[in-house]
Amino acid sequence: MTAFRALWDELATLGRDRGTGGYLRYAYSPAERACRDWFAAQAAARDLPVEADGNGNLFAWWGDPAAGDAVLTGSHFDSVPHGGAYDGPLGIVSAFLAVDALRARGHRPARPVAVAAFVEEEGARFGVPCLGSRLLTGAVDADAAGALRDADGVSFAQAHGGAPAGARPDLLARFGTAVELHVEQGRGLAEVGAAVGVGTAIWPHGRWRVTLTGEPNHAGTTAMADRRDPMLTAAFLVLAANKQARLRAARATVGRVQVRPNATNAIPERVTAWLDARAADTATLTALVEGLTAQVAERAVRDGTEVGWAAESVTAEVGFDPALAARLAALLDGAPLLPTAAGHDAGVLSAHLPTAMLFVRNHTGVSHSPAEHADDADCVAGVDALASVLAGLT
Ligand code: GLV
Ligand code: MN
Ligand code: MN
Ligand code: MN
Repeated sequence: MTAFRALWDELATLGRDRGTGGYLRYAYSPAERACRDWFAAQAAARDLPVEADGNGNLFAWWGDPAAGDAVLTGSHFDSVPHGGAYDGPLGIVSAFLAVDALRARGHRPARPVAVAAFVEEEGARFGVPCLGSRLLTGAVDADAAGALRDADGVSFAQAHGGAPAGARPDLLARFGTAVELHVEQGRGLAEVGAAVGVGTAIWPHGRWRVTLTGEPNHAGTTAMADRRDPMLTAAFLVLAANKQARLRAARATVGRVQVRPNATNAIPERVTAWLDARAADTATLTALVEGLTAQVAERAVRDGTEVGWAAESVTAEVGFDPALAARLAALLDGAPLLPTAAGHDAGVLSAHLPTAMLFVRNHTGVSHSPAEHADDADCVAGVDALASVLAGLT
């Protein structure tokens, strides 16, 4: 058994849903806490002191945490509902294994290395993705983040066990470089036949909550002409989003809806739909969302419904540090460079320090699904690549 498989199997059952085979690892859920405990145990087994930043993010230090110019590497444990095993945890497991590999080689790093586990990367519990890295960097206000509530009304502050610390410029200043390893969430590497690649950019993307309000009424006795049915406007939103995205070579998804009262024989009073939209550049994303807003408003007039839009999170276009990306590609004998349309904590960090990403091949490209998969051989290649990168940087 490889060192990768041995470590990977330790995480396999934590938060796994037996029915779907996917993971339910929401931030601060018992399953995600079990992953955090595992992180602490792994760090302890390696004599790496763990530092908590007061926002839910953990850092296991190899080398002097106070020395400065540290290399941060890691990812997140939390998942989307019924997500895959690799999205997040692969970056943390690979980071510990890369440290092991460097130690086995007798490498003595000239810069400290911090293995990081970020909290609430997916935003699956509190709605805002990369909440931990946004708090650390001050990209989100600590009070606002603490007040975010999950579906049961539990606030982030309650789940976290107190108000989050918010921006930690002192801690941020101790990092000189960040490299997040992540399973690829597309087929870019499979198409070029490479096990590992270097990330260049993240598409701008965002989440909008669209609230459509009509008039609740009887499904049998209300004449079709007399209805104010918000489900019609919601259906239009879904179809128009898909069309707009296709026309603009962008992406738009309505993956979550709530219907009130959610009864088969009642015209709904309200439909809340969450739009996830992404595009290769900001102008295209803006045009998509503005175009859709206008179209839905027009449709709502026909349906007799009311529309409210709220941006829950908008993430600007990220270009990773080109010199760092080129250096990583060179350290990896010319690994391919590729952008992604998925969000990452690395994207948030990149506004503050030179940041890059490593992607590990995913043959089907499937992610945010129980079917997400990377071959062990490619994961091992990812660990080797991260070790080479850390050796080169430190
Ligand atoms: C994060 O996984 C995202 O939705 O991009
Ligand atoms: Mn994800
Ligand atoms: Mn991820
Ligand atoms: Mn993500």
